[in-house]
Amino acid sequence: MATETLQPHPVADSRVWARAFAALYDPSLWIGERAGMRRHRHDLLARARGQTLEIGSGTGLNLVHYPDDLDGLVLAEPDPSMRKRLERAVRRSDRDARVIDAGAEQLPFADASIDTVVSTLVLCTVDAPDEALREIARVLRPDGQLLFIEHVRSDAERWARWQDRLAGPWAAFASGCQCNRNTLDLLAASGMRVAEVDRHKWSGMPRIVRPLAIGSAEVA
Ligand SMILES: C[S@@+](CC[C@H](N)C(=O)[O-])C[C@H]1O[C@@H](n2cnc3c(N)ncnc32)[C@H](O)[C@@H]1O
Repeated sequence: MATETLQPHPVADSRVWARAFAALYDPSLWIGERAGMRRHRHDLLARARGQTLEIGSGTGLNLVHYPDDLDGLVLAEPDPSMRKRLERAVRRSDRDARVIDAGAEQLPFADASIDTVVSTLVLCTVDAPDEALREIARVLRPDGQLLFIEHVRSDAERWARWQDRLAGPWAAFASGCQCNRNTLDLLAASGMRVAEVDRHKWSGMPRIVRPLAIGSAEVA
């Protein structure tokens, strides 16, 4: 008689973890938000204008930081557990924002239709960042802007090596986040022009995700 081996189903498993990760997301960022990330979000998002699209909006931590006079705000989030929390955050806020189910690699918008794309802590996680950046450049108007806060590969060789060593377990824990991704190089290679970038530390967070790049890019 054949023995049936019950293996945990990887998709089911990852769904369970995705739900847990969404629930743990705000508490695990709590210290980092208070130690400076909230101020970074506030300073950057004050520059959003016109038709604004945020990719990978997560639980909606950026919502309170947008200026009131945007022409429109769309929050794209492909993960159902995150999106549920995001929808709740929008309902509880007084913001007129639309939540959609979309990954950054395929944005349901016409060419040159968006003034501001916002990406905070997202390009580390998208499966195909080069495709996502192409798509962002496609939807941006010629005078549009990408505003970003991303944690990036460390400039310090020693810490970059630790990021490489811990990339696997970190990605398993943080729903696919690649702590060693060189997002600034990807941006430079994407054909977009990085207009400005400041380097900061994400205080209050594990060292492998501490190096931050904050800035803006334009359609070249
Ligand atoms: C670390 S969280 C950042 C959430 C939020 N932007 C913030 O600043 O707190 C990464 C987010 O990217 C989303 N994500 C994952 N893959 C994505 C993709 N291909 N396109 C867009 N977002 C994606 C995840 O579901 C998650 O909500």
